[in-house]
Amino acid sequence: MGSALSCCGSEKVEEGTTTITAANNTTWRIFSYKELHTATSGFSEENKLGEGGFGSVYWGKTSDGLQIAVKKLKAMNSKAEMEFAVEVEVLGRVRHKNLLGLRGYCAGTDQRLIVYDYMPNLSLLSHLHGQFAGETQLDWKKRMKIAIGSAEGLLYLHHEVTPHIIHRDIKASNVLLDSNFEPLVADFGFAKLIPEGVSHMTTRVKGTLGYLAPEYAMWGKVSESCDVYSFGILLLELLTGRKPIEKLPGGLKRTVTEWAEPLITQGKFKELVDPKLRANFDENQLKQAINVAALCVQSEPEKRPNMKEVVNILKGYDPRGKVMQTRIESVKYKAELIDLDQASDDDDDNGGVPDESGLGVFEAMEVPKMRDPYKHGDRKMSKHV
Ligand SMILES: Nc1ncnc2c1ncn2[C@@H]1O[C@H](COP(=O)(O)OP(=O)(O)OP(=O)(O)O)[C@@H](O)[C@H]1O
Ligand SMILES: [Mg+2]
Repeated sequence: MGSALSCCGSEKVEEGTTTITAANNTTWRIFSYKELHTATSGFSEENKLGEGGFGSVYWGKTSDGLQIAVKKLKAMNSKAEMEFAVEVEVLGRVRHKNLLGLRGYCAGTDQRLIVYDYMPNLSLLSHLHGQFAGETQLDWKKRMKIAIGSAEGLLYLHHEVTPHIIHRDIKASNVLLDSNFEPLVADFGFAKLIPEGVSHMTTRVKGTLGYLAPEYAMWGKVSESCDVYSFGILLLELLTGRKPIEKLPGGLKRTVTEWAEPLITQGKFKELVDPKLRANFDENQLKQAINVAALCVQSEPEKRPNMKEVVNILKGYDPRGKVMQTRIESVKYKAELIDLDQASDDDDDNGGVPDESGLGVFEAMEVPKMRDPYKHGDRKMSKHV
């Protein structure tokens, strides 16, 4: 790995040591497998924080006392090694208070492990619908902090880091919360580290469907606006406490936009608010946030605001003030797609267990023209723009 990283340019990799000093003076380490094995009690079930599309995540503690979260990727082939190194190099440079940066990695012959700081308040999902859902920790102030912080993290990815990064998987389980409930957007760089022949989207569609922009779900069209759409759904989830797709009695499923549409059209904003807040919220901020959400979830990508505009409106700075949306467009996924969604059936923090069948949104929609932008070197259409 050392040589692979060295070839990428400015990183300094010292033989025999494991510290890499990046241009911006932040450090991250190469961990040995043994060290991570020990830190996580042998990747034991008790240490498991959850499971996602790429593999399992384990809590651990290093010998110097640092609490870490170790993501153990599913096995990868050797061809992917260089890509892994380049990806790690890019991510190692990304630093923002609202992005979960890398603490390091381990790359053995058949193992890829990514090390992050452990986030004691886990994910937003765990607070809205998971193990902390019964508690009242998420007051209005915290929710606004989470909304603005995650928007700022995305703004940085879209507009400030070079090359630009499109996240493609914005959702509540990818917004982690530190001890002060400061949000850190996670998983913004590893979308292409998927075992050959398995598309992340196809295996994880169950947990992700409700956040997918229609042009992405149907035609695989990727742009920053896809993230903006997903952010709009995340914001609605944060305001209403509802899942992106809910299961109704009788087995029918409904998207949060379908539910919110009539209330927004009729101006019944207060009825949208999560009852857990017991009506403790700031009315102006609520209106602004609903406005932003409604703008973000428009079906035409070009109508959506960019993340700079989103942050400005959320902070109340936007002097022109984009026209207040009194309407929200509810995107209706095709019935067969909705049937594939399992997140609304699950109440765990995983957002659903990966679909072993491999059948997912693109197969279901029969979109053979759909191509994986990562596989064609078309970086303009992919996450690095
Ligand atoms: N640094 C961390 N600190 C605490 N919990 C974490 C950390 N990283 C991940 N988790 C938790 O581990 C679980 C699994 O995360 P993982 O990212 O693998 O899956 P996911 O977010 O559900 O789906 P995806 O693969 O699409 O990201 C999630 O519940 C997540 O909140
Ligand atoms: Mg994740």
